[in-house]
Amino acid sequence: MNNALPPVIAIDGPSGSGKGTVASRVALTLGWNLLDSGALYRILAQVSRQRGKSGDDPAQLEALARGLRVDFKQTAAGDEQILLEGRDVTAALRSEDSGKRASELAVIPEVRRGLMAVQRNFRRAPGLVADGRDMGTVVFPDAGLKIFLTASVEERAKRRYNQLKQKGLNANLPALFQDLVARDERDRNRSVSPLKPASDAVVLNTTGTAVEAVVDQVLDLAHRRYGKAAAGSRQGG
Ligand code: DC
Repeated sequence: MNNALPPVIAIDGPSGSGKGTVASRVALTLGWNLLDSGALYRILAQVSRQRGKSGDDPAQLEALARGLRVDFKQTAAGDEQILLEGRDVTAALRSEDSGKRASELAVIPEVRRGLMAVQRNFRRAPGLVADGRDMGTVVFPDAGLKIFLTASVEERAKRRYNQLKQKGLNANLPALFQDLVARDERDRNRSVSPLKPASDAVVLNTTGTAVEAVVDQVLDLAHRRYGKAAAGSRQGG
């Protein structure tokens, strides 16, 4: 029925599970489009905050969400670049504060509704790699390949810590750990689109596994599922 629609690989999981890095590298290798859905929630969090009080109204948030013009690009090194109306907003979205406010907005049904069409618009040829919390369950329930990445909370906190340090940002491990526990709790227990694996998802526990190995595993699954369509621009041997 959906043969005419470009293929989708959905990669979901909690904060720090590595889904962003894995999705970005898989998309680059296959030459497919990338959707970092968490970035949309983060952008909405920032844009709505700038509007002051009116930015908290659900109907206004929905309208604001529907109007977002966002593009994801990748540098040759595979680093993700997030453009809002053509402006590079990548650095501004990295802070823990922006993630926290995004997670708070994400419980609002109007916000999720407003972002639905924006997310589905990224489904363009030759294919889409989409990462988030509800890619396989709600946004692209017909995705041909669904991956759910998990890792222990200790490992995820350590990964975040190393990522922030590498970028020269302030980081505090116990605070990151607490923040992840709170964010997991909110993302898993909200009534709309809670974080959970789709019934047909392949669940990969990445605790103690290098990101390169996870990328290879996902690429293997993609080739098995999509054959030539996922041959893409895979470089090297
Ligand atoms: O993946 P991330 O940390 O950038 O996402 C930030 C927050 O946005 C996350 O805590 C929950 C929310 N989110 C969501 O509810 N659904 C998605 N598909 C992606 C993110």
